[in-house]
Amino acid sequence: MRMGEDIVQSERFDKAWHVPHHHKKGTIAQHCLETAGYALRISRWLSRRGITVSERDVVRASLLHDIGMTEDEVFLSPSRVKAYTHPREGSRIAREEFGVSDLQADAILRHMWPIGHVPPHSIEGWVVVAADKCCSIHEIHQAFAPWAKR
Ligand SMILES: [Fe+2]
Ligand SMILES: [Fe+2]
Repeated sequence: MRMGEDIVQSERFDKAWHVPHHHKKGTIAQHCLETAGYALRISRWLSRRGITVSERDVVRASLLHDIGMTEDEVFLSPSRVKAYTHPREGSRIAREEFGVSDLQADAILRHMWPIGHVPPHSIEGWVVVAADKCCSIHEIHQAFAPWAKR
């Protein structure tokens, strides 16, 4: 919590509590908090294997990775467009409103990899990619579980 207190308590994050995410079962704020939880678990798993990961960087980047969705013009665009625009918007918002580091801004910008084609430039960025996908699998499973109906 200490690592992202300024983010979680911001007006921008308040807005994220009202923006629906994955299939309207949750909100962007909820998804970002859960992604941060996955990112911390992955970071600790890696560090037990001798791979050093900055927990502060993964928490801050995770909390802000989908913040671009809080911009109306992004949220209202078709999902194939949104997939490309929200990381760019998010990275801009993260720099302007939260003064994130270059590493954190890059992790936000690249979190949709392989969409966007350019992978993250740091291990922390890769952790955010993995955490976002783990979190999304869980959310989609809760919402639909299409494979369970086979
Ligand atoms: Fe995203
Ligand atoms: Fe996400």
